[in-house]
Amino acid sequence: MRVLSVVGARPQFVKLAPIAAAFDGHAEHIVIHTGQHYDELMSDVFFRDLGIPEPDVNLAIGSGNHGAQTGAMLAAIEPELERFRPDWVLVYGDTNSTLAAAVAAVKLHIPLAHLEAGLRSFNRRMPEEHNRVLTDHAADLLLAPTQVAMDHLATEGLAARSVLVGDVMTDVLYRVRDAQQGAPGPFPEHGDGEYYVATLHRPDNTDDPARLGAIVEQLAALGKPVMLLAHPRLRAAAEAGGVRLETGSIVVREPLAYPQLVSAVSRSAGVVTDSGGLQKEAFLLRVPCTTVRSETEWVETVELGWNVLVDADLSVLRAVVERPAPEPTDAQPYGDGHAAERVLEALSARSA
Ligand code: UD1
Repeated sequence: MRVLSVVGARPQFVKLAPIAAAFDGHAEHIVIHTGQHYDELMSDVFFRDLGIPEPDVNLAIGSGNHGAQTGAMLAAIEPELERFRPDWVLVYGDTNSTLAAAVAAVKLHIPLAHLEAGLRSFNRRMPEEHNRVLTDHAADLLLAPTQVAMDHLATEGLAARSVLVGDVMTDVLYRVRDAQQGAPGPFPEHGDGEYYVATLHRPDNTDDPARLGAIVEQLAALGKPVMLLAHPRLRAAAEAGGVRLETGSIVVREPLAYPQLVSAVSRSAGVVTDSGGLQKEAFLLRVPCTTVRSETEWVETVELGWNVLVDADLSVLRAVVERPAPEPTDAQPYGDGHAAERVLEALSARSA
């Protein structure tokens, strides 16, 4: 079986890691990097640290408006699919790279599998929501991370093509956490439980200076240092909007490599984020999370009490972040850390 994975943005490199490991020796695996993320800290470091083989092809598409970026990827992916003619094209998550590869595959009648299928925020302002819905409806095989995702797919009439495999980010998180045991964290100047980790990169939060300023004001007032791991979009938006990030409790740092991120979160007092993946990672590491969005795809984290959403009324952000610790739980809504093996099984069982 020949599987061709298309990745391009930071969270996809994390998802690719356990897949590449599970496929090794069992499937011929070709990796195409669209180049959506290209900075050393947004891309290369993930391949190195997570032991992912170098991509076979890097399309070097880079940044751009949504249509131009997605269209350039689509045009560049098509000839690669014709060249490799895989049994499956495997796409990951919800980025513009995901959608471009999905459209390229279905136009060439190459079977398409979508990993992390069925997630929904029901927020149609998010570019990721369109990418998810369109990719799910195009795909031949929907690999869902959770029962909630399976239920969404069934509601949309896609149950017959859906398989519950579990969450591959859980696979990689557990592996990295165990490997990090005992190693020093990235912020040795702050003791365990003595700082927060924050990330912000959603356009809804970064691109309106008034909103960004209000979030920064709340973070600056927190009672412990806030390690703000600044995505390039955040830095650019803050500069353009005249918002000073390094103020009060906020310490601005570069994005962290994945093992360092896991270590930083596991030692922190809490996480404040608008990232999808980080909400779940905080839960899996049993660190309280505050999400600066009106909705989440990972509803289990909220239902179990480990994640609280703050959106319209930002004045409560500080009080929410500093809330009392949640009830302990043994729940495992994201699977057992063996999702990637189930992906291999599902693809093998359906290939000619
Ligand atoms: C993308 C995904 C989002 C994911 C996020 C993770 C889409 C629609 N969004 O958002 O779902 O959560 O990645 O990080 O696909 N930039 C750099 N260097 C880089 C990458 C980006 O400077 O290596 C800058 C670009 O110039 C641009 C901005 O970051 O200004 C946005 O990059 P883009 O990939 O379009 O979207 P993200 O916000 O990263």
